[in-house]
Amino acid sequence: MYILKSRSTYSQAFIFSIILLITLLLVLDWKVHRDVHNVKSKLTEQQWRQFLHCQDTALEKSVDTHGSYMVFKNFVRANRNFMCHETITLTAPGDYRFLDNVIQLVDRWDGPMSIAIHAPGFDFLNTLKCIAYLRNCKNEKIKELVTFHLFFEYNHMPFHQSIPLINIYEDTYNCSQPPPYETMRDEDMYKSKQNLTYPINVARNIAKLTVQTHLVFPLDVELYPTKHFIQKFMDFIMINPEYIGPLSKNVFVLPIFEILEGQKVPETKKDLRRMLEDKTAIIFHQGLCTPCHRIPRNKEWIQANVSEGLDVFTDTKRTGSQRFWEPFFVCTQKEPLWDERLNWEGQGNKMCQAYHLCMLDYSFLVLDNAFLIHKPGVKKKKVQILKHQDELRKNNRILKMITKELRSVYGPNDRCIIHQ
Ligand SMILES: *[C@@H]1O[C@H](CO)[C@@H](O)[C@H](O)[C@H]1NC(C)=O
Ligand SMILES: *[C@@H]1O[C@H](CO)[C@@H](O)[C@H](O)[C@H]1NC(C)=O
Ligand SMILES: *[C@@H]1O[C@H](CO)[C@@H](O)[C@H](O)[C@H]1NC(C)=O
Repeated sequence: MYILKSRSTYSQAFIFSIILLITLLLVLDWKVHRDVHNVKSKLTEQQWRQFLHCQDTALEKSVDTHGSYMVFKNFVRANRNFMCHETITLTAPGDYRFLDNVIQLVDRWDGPMSIAIHAPGFDFLNTLKCIAYLRNCKNEKIKELVTFHLFFEYNHMPFHQSIPLINIYEDTYNCSQPPPYETMRDEDMYKSKQNLTYPINVARNIAKLTVQTHLVFPLDVELYPTKHFIQKFMDFIMINPEYIGPLSKNVFVLPIFEILEGQKVPETKKDLRRMLEDKTAIIFHQGLCTPCHRIPRNKEWIQANVSEGLDVFTDTKRTGSQRFWEPFFVCTQKEPLWDERLNWEGQGNKMCQAYHLCMLDYSFLVLDNAFLIHKPGVKKKKVQILKHQDELRKNNRILKMITKELRSVYGPNDRCIIHQ
């Protein structure tokens, strides 16, 4: 009896410890699984909105002042409105000669766009004709998604004898007629006749400041982002909201490439890789200013396997081998604007913002499965250099001044430089 009882206690203890062990293993396995497959979960829409703490705004048509410029804000509005947490707005500067790019861009972006156009004198009316053409004769998404702002120097007001400017836009176009951007020669533009320079940074700032969303992607109209980028980025950032918290200092870089004339814009990273291999695609401005756009570990970026979503490939500062970098990136309204003393003709106009971010010790997070493609046709030489020697010297002087100013504001930092 005694022996039997003791045996049964033994076997009970044995079975108990087996069960304990199995439970332990199961818990462990579940934990490992969770850590591997589901590190963090995506915020709900409501949590995301609370996290951003942003304000919705209306797209209201208004006339405003911006330094020595008059701005017709939201002059031609997108039909669709967005809440501040909902998506990303692509913002771009331009004059009407570049507006044909909007047709492909809106298709690829497929989200809200804010475009600020320099339109002095009679360029104002030609710009409006181009917009009417795009909205009524081209991609319907333009009407739905693109908002246009027009601005000009106070000294170069547009003029119309009978109609007040605020009511002058007519949203109709005879689509058998070509748009002004196809028929007008550069030398016929008001700004060419008046020898006006193009205040590209004023345009960049106006386009960025007038959006409805907290997240923005300041770009040029000749640059096409990867398809479905918005959804992928929103999924990524709603899983990793801490990247854009109130005290964070991050921007999200898309590497940029250009392709040869006549080539199809690559849709996926696989297509891009193939094109880079057969040299129908190259890094943007390769040869002109390779370090301005080359991302760190760029060969590895190209070779890295493509995954479904979007993530950070590498996290880097704009110092060392990246000190000449002037990348395009997704950011928020809190990042610094562009210095309006710099114009397009004199170049270096984008560099000032990258320098400012360096002085603020920002991190540049390069995304793994997204990229930009410049409109087909590789730039051969810098035409501007020959034409605008004076403006070049002027911009260089201003860039030196900016260096001095920001060193005075934030303290000297020799790791950050402006490339001239
Ligand atoms: C539109 O333009 C075409 C070509 O110039 C012209 O023949 C036609 O009469 C115009 N239509 C209208 C309604 O003005
Ligand atoms: C523009 O520049 C050209 C060449 O320098 C000059 O001949 C012309 O008078 C200038 N026009 C204006 C309006 O200043
Ligand atoms: C990419 O995936 C292939 C096959 O799945 C694998 O052999 C290769 O090592 C991967 N390359 C990198 C850089 O991770």
